[in-house]
Amino acid sequence: MFETIEELKESIKNCNKCKLCKTRKNIVFGEGNINADIMFIGEGPGAEEDEQGIPFVGKAGKLMNQAFIGLGIDRNNVYIANIVKCRPPQNRNPEDDEASSCLNYLRNQVMIVKPKIIVLLGSIALKNILGKEYGITSARGKWIEKKGILYMPTFHPAALLRDDSKKIYFWKDLEAVAEKSKELNKNT
Ligand code: URA
Repeated sequence: MFETIEELKESIKNCNKCKLCKTRKNIVFGEGNINADIMFIGEGPGAEEDEQGIPFVGKAGKLMNQAFIGLGIDRNNVYIANIVKCRPPQNRNPEDDEASSCLNYLRNQVMIVKPKIIVLLGSIALKNILGKEYGITSARGKWIEKKGILYMPTFHPAALLRDDSKKIYFWKDLEAVAEKSKELNKNT
């Protein structure tokens, strides 16, 4: 485990722990405020993210940015990362061996950032972080506390692009996150 984000980033720049290294253009390490109260965890980079090396810059990311703006969440004030840091070909789901090779990097990021709240974006993030027994449709919108961190599972923004009716739930869940963050800061 590394103590600083720079050391961690440096340590993974030539990562070849799984087969995604063969097809990636760039590692999408994650970005944001390393003192953030809120961390967002997605699934894995898409084409645009792979191109730029930055998380959530494609269509799904743009949709998430709109929600951030509407809810007064400053993207520069949160931390954003993914379960896998390299793009799965054709945007398929990350396979279990890929996720498990990459998860320690994410754990190290969480250890450094020490967020109070983690938003799990979609089923892959939920199952890899909290356990395979969880399903996104029933878990979303409910706070789950583990080891002093509050988790909020919600739909992945790409799911909203496929199904408009999910937008309202995504919005409500992020609204609850913004409120909880304010509440926690009042008490400190
Ligand atoms: N989808 C994700 O899960 N992560 C990204 O960074 C972009 C799209």
